[in-house]
Amino acid sequence: MTDTRAIRGRLLTFTAEPAGPGDSGAYRYLSDGLLRIEDGRIAAIGPAADLLPSLPPGTPVEHHPDALVIPGFIDPHIHFPQTQVIASYGAQLLDWLEKYTFVEEQKYADPAHAAANARFFLDELLRNGTTTAAVYCTVHPQSADAFFAESERRGTAMIAGKVMMDHGAPDALRDTARSGYDDSKALIARWHGRGRQRYAVTPRFAVTSTEEQLAAAGALLREHPDCYLQTHLSENRAEIAAVRARFPWGNHYTDVYDRHGLLGPRSLFGHCIHLEDDEVRRLAETGSVAVFCPTSNLFMGSGLFDRARLTGHVPPVRTALATDIGGGTSYSMLRTAAEAYKVLQLQGQNLPALTAFHAMTRGNAEALGLRGEVGSLEPGCWADVVVLDSHATPAMAHRMETVRDDLEEELFVLMTLGDDRAVKATYVQGKCAFP
Ligand code: GUN
Ligand code: ZN
Repeated sequence: MTDTRAIRGRLLTFTAEPAGPGDSGAYRYLSDGLLRIEDGRIAAIGPAADLLPSLPPGTPVEHHPDALVIPGFIDPHIHFPQTQVIASYGAQLLDWLEKYTFVEEQKYADPAHAAANARFFLDELLRNGTTTAAVYCTVHPQSADAFFAESERRGTAMIAGKVMMDHGAPDALRDTARSGYDDSKALIARWHGRGRQRYAVTPRFAVTSTEEQLAAAGALLREHPDCYLQTHLSENRAEIAAVRARFPWGNHYTDVYDRHGLLGPRSLFGHCIHLEDDEVRRLAETGSVAVFCPTSNLFMGSGLFDRARLTGHVPPVRTALATDIGGGTSYSMLRTAAEAYKVLQLQGQNLPALTAFHAMTRGNAEALGLRGEVGSLEPGCWADVVVLDSHATPAMAHRMETVRDDLEEELFVLMTLGDDRAVKATYVQGKCAFP
């Protein structure tokens, strides 16, 4: 028996990357729309008046009359073991890792701790309207098992991997080139492509991997070409100096990954702030993705992501927008977009609301190669959906009094003033996952 259900409200979905403000050809908006959902996937989208009569008698319809119903947010760079690292005071990247992060991540050797935090983490993502993410676990394979098991239980589409780290970290957080390879391989066999779970080979960054380990990561990617690669690149000046010192043969930081076969269209590079021209060229040529993590870059004093430089390159570098919890300071993609706007403002660039909402949904899906599955409200996509209330707080409601039938202005209010309080509901495969 087909499970049929429906969600009704003000539907918004993007069909292309907006060229700029006012690009009404880049999205579809239905002021009273309906999603017909069959077995978790969108079967039809259209005006409620047209689709309601076609629903089988008794079909449950979740009606959100004044709310915006959009695809669930996608967060392409986040650390699941850093929920108790977030908001740690006064350090930049390398000290922050040593002083806070490496301390906290050791606790994930305990499967019970990992399982409890996987529950918290996924609750928090869903409370913020995020339904898909690319997730770093710790070096312990059991942390990835715990995360995937919890995601599978909830039916969410997640990409994750155990961190590979065989250098420059406490003994308790180091694997070896061999064990990192073996454990990752076993996790791929266990989880990659199982339901909605996918694996990302995850060497933490060049600072904490030996050459042998980077080569092992490259071998894993060659052996499993449909897996992802996620790592960090050019976030902080001291980090770049450390990479130079450890890999003097490299032309630059990107070259260290490049020579081990780690660049490509399924490769996600967090930060990409202080790149040389030749690094931008290689990222562009290989279709690699540069992931902009604005709250993290501001919090850690890392620098300003030059989005225009990357997207303006010929060919362009593919970009994505992410939280980077716990270097980042908010689980909310709305807050993340607000900080992205400010980082770009500081460089004389802009981030129109349409572009930001596209980035958080269809754009990030595109960056993850998941278009047609998530990030859009179109037939065939999973019904992973967030319902947003642009009047959620007194300040928002007050500001919205001045907005008259202007979708873009409403979206800008949502991204500038909104956060988890603006998330009225989140659906995964058409079923309510929050509240
Ligand atoms: N570089 C290497 N590891 C990390 C991490 O955990 N967070 C951030 N922001 N940068 C990193
Ligand atoms: Zn990160």
